[in-house]
Parts: sequence; structure tokens; C-alpha cells
Amino acid sequence: MKAVIMHQKGEIPQYTAHFPDPVAQGENEIVISIQAAAIKHLDRSMAGGKHYTTKNDIAEAKVIGGDGVGILPNGTRVFALGNGMLAEKAVIEKDSMIEVPEDLDDATAAALPNAVAGSAMALRFRARMEKGETVLINGATGFTGKIAVQIARYYGAKKIIVTGRNEGTLQALRALGADEVISLKQDDESVIAQIKHIHNHTPIDVVIDYLWGHSAELILSSLAGNGRFTPKTRFVSIGSVTGDKIQLSAEILRSADLELSGSGLGSWTRAELGELLHSIVPEMFKLAASGQLKVDIKIIRLEDIEKLWDMEMPDGVRLVVTL
Ligand SMILES: NC(=O)c1ccc[n+]([C@@H]2O[C@H](COP(=O)([O-])OP(=O)(O)OC[C@H]3O[C@@H](n4cnc5c(N)ncnc54)[C@H](OP(=O)(O)O)[C@@H]3O)[C@@H](O)[C@H]2O)c1
Repeated sequence: MKAVIMHQKGEIPQYTAHFPDPVAQGENEIVISIQAAAIKHLDRSMAGGKHYTTKNDIAEAKVIGGDGVGILPNGTRVFALGNGMLAEKAVIEKDSMIEVPEDLDDATAAALPNAVAGSAMALRFRARMEKGETVLINGATGFTGKIAVQIARYYGAKKIIVTGRNEGTLQALRALGADEVISLKQDDESVIAQIKHIHNHTPIDVVIDYLWGHSAELILSSLAGNGRFTPKTRFVSIGSVTGDKIQLSAEILRSADLELSGSGLGSWTRAELGELLHSIVPEMFKLAASGQLKVDIKIIRLEDIEKLWDMEMPDGVRLVVTL
């Protein structure tokens, strides 16, 4: 079968037309014919052996891709989590598949779930966001950030503050639901002053963070109090585009009512993951199919993967491979 394979961690994945078909093993496994699979940060860092879930993997030739849309032997079209999804065929687990509605195209259905996981799971379960709350999204100009803005609005956020570098994309986020825009291209003092000003007038209940690194330090500094009562802020780390480590002053933790947590594979309970697959993603599929959730994708063919693997994508656009 056609597949995209990796021989060594960290190398550019290679296209081959001759890889052995996968075989389902147990009762819960089934082979699907893949139609589309998105290339996300997760796939790149897993392929590079850098993701925390793949650090102990042994080097061997394997098909890459962690999720995708395919057709079951009975003709049903599903989105599923699995291994080796960048190929004509892949084995999936029957209890990890979601039926794709008829009016949603393969590529959009392949691109959306990872971003839904990266936004709805943090808002719903780690931040326990409630209607009427104020949410700050750090790194909102990315693909997942753009989905997070729309889902936070859909979940009833009263005010949404977005940060990022790209001025054009930041302004475009207003049309998706953002109320206040903070440019990370300003000097540190201006970023802190802007966030403090907002926090003093409309306390920031939830921070959804895709960047970590320096901008997270600035946001946390902005939340520091001066000994008086402070509003509670739940800060949830989802990604670390600009660095895996920060410096965190103990004074910030003592002077503000701050809750720090993370949202990702390993932090969710089995029940929460079940809700993602069986309730949250199906709901978001319906919103996308009806045009209420905007999803920007760029489609490429499997055969072109080698030359396009390192391609710079425009802000907020997801690369999707179709077969
Ligand atoms: N835990 C989960 O469940 C989960 C799920 C999905 C995604 N994620 C993670 O979330 C993160 C974002 O994912 P994504 O899909 O939105 O990625 P993306 O589409 O590639 O967006 C990344 C964003 O990072 C910003 N950025 C890059 N370099 C920057 C810098 N030096 N300073 C400030 N901003 C910078 C860019 O914004 P500007 O162009 O405006 O600078 C870009 O829009 C990734 O780490 C991903 O792995 C986690």
C-alpha cells in the first residue's frame, strides 16, 4: 500500500508505494481505508521522537500519523485515533472512532478533532469554564487557537482576549469572537500593563495557553497581586510553541488566587476522553458542517509529503493529506 514512513527518529518522512498492509489483531481492532489525515505539531514531534509519549520508542521503520478519516468495510465514514494513519490503510480501535456526518468533507473532519481536544478539553475539564466568564487565549493566531476562540464563544464566554504576533490574524480573530487583542510584538511592560488593565476591570477567569515560554511569564506576572483579595484565575497549559520551561516567581503564586494545570494526553481521565470522542467532537462536527465553526485547511496529496513536510503554513491553517 501507499504510506508515509519514518526510518529514523527526526528524519524527513518518506513516501513509499510498497508498504505491507496492516492487519487487525484483536476483537476491538478493524482496518479502515484512509481518506484524509492532518499533519499537526503532535505528529511532527512524535515522528521526531520528541513528544513525551514517544521518548522511549525504539527506532524502526513505521508509518506515521496519529489520526484520520477513513471508511470502514461496511462503508461508514469515521474519524479515528490510531497509529500509522498516513497510509492507504490503518488499524484503528473500534471504541475510538466517531462517525463523520454526511455534509462534512473528509479534510475538515480530519483537521478538526485535534484542535477540539486542544481547546474544548481545556475549557471544559481543566478550566471548568462557565458561561459569562472572561477567557484569555495566548497564541490564538494558530490553528488550535482560532478554534479555541470560537469554542469559548460557543460555550458562552462573556469576554475573549487574544494574544499573538501576527497583527492581521489577530484582527481577523474579532470576526470569530475575540473582544480584545493584545500584540505580543509590544515591549514586555506594555503587554503586562494591557493585561493588568483588563484584569482589574474584567477579571480574567481562564487562561488557555498554547505558547508557554516568555509570553506565559508575562501573563503570570500580570496576574500578580499586591496583598489584597484577588479574583481566581485558572491557567491551563496546552502547548509550548515558544519553549518548554518558564521562570515562575513564588510571589506570584502567593499573591494571586491562581490555579495552574495542563491539558493533554495523560492529564485527561478515561471518562473525559470518552466525552471528547462520543459527545464533544460529534457536536463540533455538526457546527463545522453547518458553517458555524470556521476551519482553514490546505490539502496536499500523500505523494507530495516529502517536499511539503517542512512547509511554512499561513497562520491558523492546518495541512491535510488526502488519498
Ligand atoms: N494538549 C493538546 O491537547 C493539544 C492539542 C492541539 C494542539 N496542542 C499544542 O498547541 C500548540 C499550538 O498548536 P496549533 O495547532 O495552534 O499550532 P500552529 O497552528 O502552528 O500555531 C502556532 C502559533 O504559535 C505562534 N508562535 C510561533 N512562534 C512564536 C513566537 N516566537 N512568539 C509568539 N508566538 C509564536 C504563531 O502565532 P504568530 O504567527 O501570531 O506568532 C502560531 O500562530 C502546539 O504546541 C500544539 O502541540 C496541544
